[in-house]
Amino acid sequence: MAKKQSNLWSGRFKKKSAKLLSEFNDSLSFDKRLYKHDIKGSIAYAQALHKTKILTAKETKKIISGLNKIEKQIDSKKDKWFTENQNEDIHSSVENKLISLIGEPGRKLHTGRSRNDQVATDIRLYLKDELNQILLLLKKLRQAFITQAKKHYKTLMPGYTHLQRAQIITLGHHLLAYEQKFSRDIERFQDSFKRIDVMPLGSGALAGSSFNIDRRFLAKKLGFSKISENSIDAVSDRDFICEFLFNCSLSGIHLSQLGEEIILWSSEEFKFIEISDAYSTGSSMMPQKKNPDIAELLRGKTGRYLGNLVSILNVLKGLPHAYNKDLQEDKEVIFDSIDTIKVMLKISNELLQNISFKKDKMYLAAKDSFMAATDVADYLTKKGIPFRTAHEITGKIVLYCIKKKKQLTDLSIDEWKKFHKLFNNDIIEKIKVESCVNARNQYGGTAPAEVLKAIKRCSSK
Ligand code: ARG
Repeated sequence: MAKKQSNLWSGRFKKKSAKLLSEFNDSLSFDKRLYKHDIKGSIAYAQALHKTKILTAKETKKIISGLNKIEKQIDSKKDKWFTENQNEDIHSSVENKLISLIGEPGRKLHTGRSRNDQVATDIRLYLKDELNQILLLLKKLRQAFITQAKKHYKTLMPGYTHLQRAQIITLGHHLLAYEQKFSRDIERFQDSFKRIDVMPLGSGALAGSSFNIDRRFLAKKLGFSKISENSIDAVSDRDFICEFLFNCSLSGIHLSQLGEEIILWSSEEFKFIEISDAYSTGSSMMPQKKNPDIAELLRGKTGRYLGNLVSILNVLKGLPHAYNKDLQEDKEVIFDSIDTIKVMLKISNELLQNISFKKDKMYLAAKDSFMAATDVADYLTKKGIPFRTAHEITGKIVLYCIKKKKQLTDLSIDEWKKFHKLFNNDIIEKIKVESCVNARNQYGGTAPAEVLKAIKRCSSK
C-alpha cells in the first residue's frame, strides 16, 4: 500500500498523526465519490482566482490541465488511485496530487478557500446531480402506474379499510392512488432543489474571503442559481440534507406500502397477483415456495432512510456555529440513502411491469355482496330516510343474512320489504358490483368513467 501523503495542515505540528487518529478522522474512504464535483469546483475556483489576478493565465492553465488529468486518472484507475494518493479526504488528496503534478502553481489554488466552503459546495453539486436522476426514476415509476391503471380502469376488486373488505373499487383507481403519492414525492424533491441550489464557495472557513473573489462569476461557472447570504450559515448549513433525507424517507415509505400490498396480494390467501418468476425467489428447503423478496426488501430497506434522517438530525442538534467536524457525518447517510432510493425506484418499476393481476380472483372477491351494504343504506337515504336510520336498517339486514347464511344478492324482494317498505325491485340492480362502482362517479371517485378522466389528467401533467 502506498504511503499516506503529508497532511495539508502539517506546518504547525511537530509530531506525525497517530495511526488511529487517521483511521478515525479520515473520510477519503467514502468522500472519494465526490471527486468529479471537487475537481469541477476547483477548476471554477482557479478561474475566479485568475479573474482577480491571484493566478496568471499560465498558472491557471496549468492548474486546470492538472485537475483534468487527475480526473482522467481517477476515472481509469478508480480505487487504485485513492490508495496511491491517500490523504485525509478527497479535497486533500486532489490538492496534494495537483501540487505533485504541477508544482508551485498548485500551491496557490487554496488561496482564500477552506475545505469548509469547499466541502459544502461539493456536496451541493453532487446532490443536484443525484436529485435529477432520482426525479427521472420517480417520473418513470409514476408513469408505470398510469400505464397499469389504463389497463385496469374497469377491473373490479374489493377495496379495504382496516384490511377488511369495505367497498367495491376499480383496480385502476387503486393504482392511481400510488400515482398520487409519487407525484407528491416528485413535487417535494423538485421544491427542495432551490434550497440545494445555493453556492457556499467564497465563504472561506467561516468569515468570508479577504480576496476579491467574484462569487457570482463562480456560481455561474458551477451552475448555481444563487449564492449564500451569510458565510457562517454557508459552511454550517446542512438543512438541505435533512430535507433530502426526509424526502427519501417519505418516498421510501410509499415504496414500502407498495411492497406490503404486493406481499399480501401475492399470498395464497389473496392471490390477486402473480409475480413473474424473473422477479421472484425460491426457498432452499421448501421446493414449492415462490417468495416476493423484492417487495419485502422494498419494505425492509425503508428502515435505512428513517435511520439516516434521524442520524443527521442528531448530528446537527448540539452544534455551535460554524463548521464542526461532526458535519463530516453527513456523507455516509446521504450516499446510503441515494444508493438505496435509486435501486428501489428502478426495481419497483420493473416489478410493477412484471406483475399479472388476476382479474377473475379479484372479481370473485368483489362479489362478496356485503360490500354493497353502503349502497343499500344510500338507496334508502335517496328515498328520504335519514342516513343514520338507513344505516341501522341495513345493519339489521346484514345480520339477518349472516344468520341465514345468505348474501345480500340472495334476498327476495319480499325479504327486502320486511325491513322497509321503500325497497323495490330496483334494489337488485343497485347492489350489483358494477352498479356499486358506477355510482361513485364524483370527481376523484372509483367509477371507471372517473378513472378514465383521472388517467387523462395524470397523463397531461
Ligand atoms: N472531510 C471534511 C468533511 O467532510 C472536510 C472539511 C474539513 N474541514 C476541516 N476544517 N477540518 O466535512
